[in-house]
Amino acid sequence: MVGVISLIIFINYLINSSLLIYPTFSKSNLVRATTLGKAYGKNGVVVSTQKDASEIGLKILKNGGNAVDAAIAVGYALAVSDPCCGNIGGGGFMLIHQADGTEKFINFRESAPLKASADMYLDQENNLIEGLSTQGYLAVGVPGTVKGLNYALEKYGTMSLKQVIDPAINLAKQGYVLQQGDVDIFDRGKKKLSEPNVAKIFLKNGTDTYQPQDLLVQSDLANTLSLIAQQGTDAFYKGSIAEKVVAASEKNNGILSLEDFANYQISEYEPVSCSYRGYQVTSSPPPGGGTTVCQMLNILSGYDLKQLGWRTPQSLHTIFSSMLLAFGDRNHYLGDPDFVNNPTDKLLSIDYATSLRDKIAFEAIPPESIYTNGLQSEGTSTTHYSVVDRDGNAVAVTYTINSYFGAGVIAPETGFLLNNEMDDFTTKLGEANQFGLRQGEANLNEPGKRPLSSMSPTIVSKHNQVYLVTGSPGGSTIPTTVLQVIINAIDYGMNLNDAVNAPRFHYQGFPKSVRTEAQAITPKTMRGLQLRGYKVTPSRQWGAAESILVDPKTGIKLGINDIRKPAGKAVAY
Ligand code: DON
Repeated sequence: MVGVISLIIFINYLINSSLLIYPTFSKSNLVRATTLGKAYGKNGVVVSTQKDASEIGLKILKNGGNAVDAAIAVGYALAVSDPCCGNIGGGGFMLIHQADGTEKFINFRESAPLKASADMYLDQENNLIEGLSTQGYLAVGVPGTVKGLNYALEKYGTMSLKQVIDPAINLAKQGYVLQQGDVDIFDRGKKKLSEPNVAKIFLKNGTDTYQPQDLLVQSDLANTLSLIAQQGTDAFYKGSIAEKVVAASEKNNGILSLEDFANYQISEYEPVSCSYRGYQVTSSPPPGGGTTVCQMLNILSGYDLKQLGWRTPQSLHTIFSSMLLAFGDRNHYLGDPDFVNNPTDKLLSIDYATSLRDKIAFEAIPPESIYTNGLQSEGTSTTHYSVVDRDGNAVAVTYTINSYFGAGVIAPETGFLLNNEMDDFTTKLGEANQFGLRQGEANLNEPGKRPLSSMSPTIVSKHNQVYLVTGSPGGSTIPTTVLQVIINAIDYGMNLNDAVNAPRFHYQGFPKSVRTEAQAITPKTMRGLQLRGYKVTPSRQWGAAESILVDPKTGIKLGINDIRKPAGKAVAY
């Protein structure tokens, strides 16, 4: 009896003191992950936020396509089957790791229309006009997805546009059967579905919410995709699709012009990278969020997180401080590299990380002492997916229409939602955007400029071999989600299932509160954090880190669909 009681007390002690030991990646974990609906294989893996899109990607791999071919097919398929977030009306970032270790970054972020200006969302008294940068045509940046996907396919893929886009056309034309996870997305976005062109497609008979097992057919979108398949990129930027969007924009007080579409350019940059405990971490450079991921990792590389403990006040204080310091720099310094000089070399230097570490003492760093921003809300209008093929090529894509269902508008006969990415600019200095981000002058709105993003498609490798492919939606929580997947796997030795699904926390200094998902922090740890001056606020879940891990010993690739996205799926062969 005494023995049993002692055992219970000991287990309680382990739980309360957060000394939980996480198993390392092993065959038994693979089995466990798979029984939880995850997937692994020797050849290829696709993980995305919608099952039909994942299956389409897998089929491309099985038919001999490489990871880029599959990624383009998934990108177009998500534009059909994950309409809140997958898109051709928005933009994003693609990170490619080629089997020989070369890494490429494609920036297809939306750009501001030529008629845009820094004060376009302000009234005569210099106040922000509510909703102008988030709803309707004035909120729309020039979409980059079609040009970005097609460019990547041409340069790094092996298949024809028709081969990779056909499955998406079929999905739109024949429809797909909605599951509960798909329906939940429409339910959550109900408020954004009222514009007649949107309601016509995403409400049943134009009025009712779709139910599980309903078939969603999207004929206009099928036509749009067919035009792109037949005529290529120009169909979207110089042909009838651009004409339809511009006509609708002009009719509804927007500023998009044919010139904006014809002039739209994607760009290919060097990705940012940093080394972390012997791994190479590669992610999105500005205007993306990878600099923030690397800054946090550089700071944390000076500590032994495992020794500081799993979710102890000491380890969390260290991680929170790295988040606060990296976000301060993001908001103050960073912007579109075609317009501003981003001091990324300095921000990512080891000396600078050391100087930031010097600011970390026992108590929480006062957010006022650095540049900060605030976080109010967050939707899931972005989506991330990961692909690895049998040759070891990997692709990480995060793309978005910004808020849930974007600007809530569809131009007649086009069938795709337009983004509200213009809200990611500093719409007014000192004022928060919809994610509560208060950003600096470097991110002011200018014609042709791209707004600063937090999206961080990330690939971790060792000796040129891919180890982890990850990324997430979630606005400003994206870099901290990516950080947690990385440190969970590398520092805490967690298997990928646990690394992705462990409850998360997020901190960026202002409001002066750490956001936590349920059970992220024990009450005892919470007290330890309060002692250091932190306020902790429970929040609903966020993000969807659709990730792949390649076991360095066996080469087996494991895909994990984040439990926060039940409509998603990991598939493998
Ligand atoms: O680029 C960005 O940082 C935002 N537009 C991303 C928005 C987002 O992740 C919303 N979804 N959760």
